[in-house]
Amino acid sequence: MSEPILQASDLVRHFRVGGGLLSKGVTVRAVDGVSLDIRRGETFAIVGESGCGKSTLARLLMRLLSPTSGSIRFEGKEISELGGRPLRDLRRDMQFIFQDPFSSLNPRMSVGRIVGEPLETHEPDLDAAGRRARVAELLRLVGLRAEHTVRYPHEFSGGQRQRIGIARALASGPKLLIGDEPVSALDMSVQAQVVNLLEDLKRDLDLTLVVIAHDLAVIRHMSDRVAVMYLGQIVESGPTDTVFSQARHPYTLALLSAIPEPEHGRTRTRIALSGEPPSPSDPPPGCRFHTRCAFARDECRVRSPELRAARDGHLVACHFWQDIAAAGEGFTPDPVAPHRPNVERRFDLYRAASLNRKTTPKAAQNTSP
Ligand SMILES: Nc1ncnc2c1ncn2[C@@H]1O[C@H](COP(=O)(O)OP(=O)(O)OP(=O)(O)O)[C@@H](O)[C@H]1O
Ligand code: SF4
Ligand SMILES: [Mg+2]
Repeated sequence: MSEPILQASDLVRHFRVGGGLLSKGVTVRAVDGVSLDIRRGETFAIVGESGCGKSTLARLLMRLLSPTSGSIRFEGKEISELGGRPLRDLRRDMQFIFQDPFSSLNPRMSVGRIVGEPLETHEPDLDAAGRRARVAELLRLVGLRAEHTVRYPHEFSGGQRQRIGIARALASGPKLLIGDEPVSALDMSVQAQVVNLLEDLKRDLDLTLVVIAHDLAVIRHMSDRVAVMYLGQIVESGPTDTVFSQARHPYTLALLSAIPEPEHGRTRTRIALSGEPPSPSDPPPGCRFHTRCAFARDECRVRSPELRAARDGHLVACHFWQDIAAAGEGFTPDPVAPHRPNVERRFDLYRAASLNRKTTPKAAQNTSP
């Protein structure tokens, strides 16, 4: 097992919104106590519903945002309070790939300038010829050609624009790339090409990747380990194969059950999570998932579960994960919970989804986008 390159400990980021003369405003708990280790050379995925705090976490890890509290260590060095020159130096090692390649590229700059600009900051000793050669090399790495340097972003397709964004991110020679939905704005046919490119770059340049994606098939295909977020916290994490085949948290089970499997001529059971997630400015007490969990009991409403080891490297934040794991052996979710009228039906759906996953080989689940 390789050593951690990036570690977060009890990381918190709250945003104060609203407020004025007549009101106090509210505190949005976007990231609320996240601890994780990202290991050198791995692809680490973060998944969860919209608004659960994925982008905020990614920006914290890169120090594009400052944490409200908690620790972030890069290669063993505390970076949570870094500023000025040391923070600029850190940018060389960690780079971001944005979701929307069009809005993240300056339309008035040629590709040569877009990709070459970071070199001015990170390699100030390069002369113009050296910079041109480096830009050509970076474009080649991402599958573009040297003559593309004189063109502008609007002259490229969406996939090519994302390649330009990746070339720009590589210009400083980073050790770690964080992609926030790096392929979700692209056509399905192009997504697989960009996913493959990221995997090739990771291998050839010894990179560590952190990928945020809502497409579970992309995550399953790309990542070595995955963290599942709900309302600003990690509820389950572990090796991707383990989490996908033996998920223990009811929220993960619900997410996984929605993977489509069109090539098998059947549709995976889709579990509709009831209602919207609660607001991160007013998270429920106890387990934050209890308002939507088919398995919730009284204890869940008052006591918050910690993220604990289920087995080697597989962590789960649920009081009753063992009961849920034994679902096939007769565990019955609390049948009298008044706010969950269809508990039994949903329980059957969870179980069916879980059995489906056990009988479907991994290769078949890797629906390349
Ligand atoms: N700058 C900000 N000011 C106030 N609230 C913010 C800010 N940035 C994020 N939030 C809030 O924090 C919560 C988490 O947002 P975040 O963008 O991290 O979620 P996400 O998981 O990336 O969602 P999505 O999948 O839609 O991109 C949301 O409620 C969001 O509205
Ligand atoms: S702790 Fe309770 S409410 Fe939370 S996920 Fe587990 S069973 Fe559901
Ligand atoms: Mg986001």
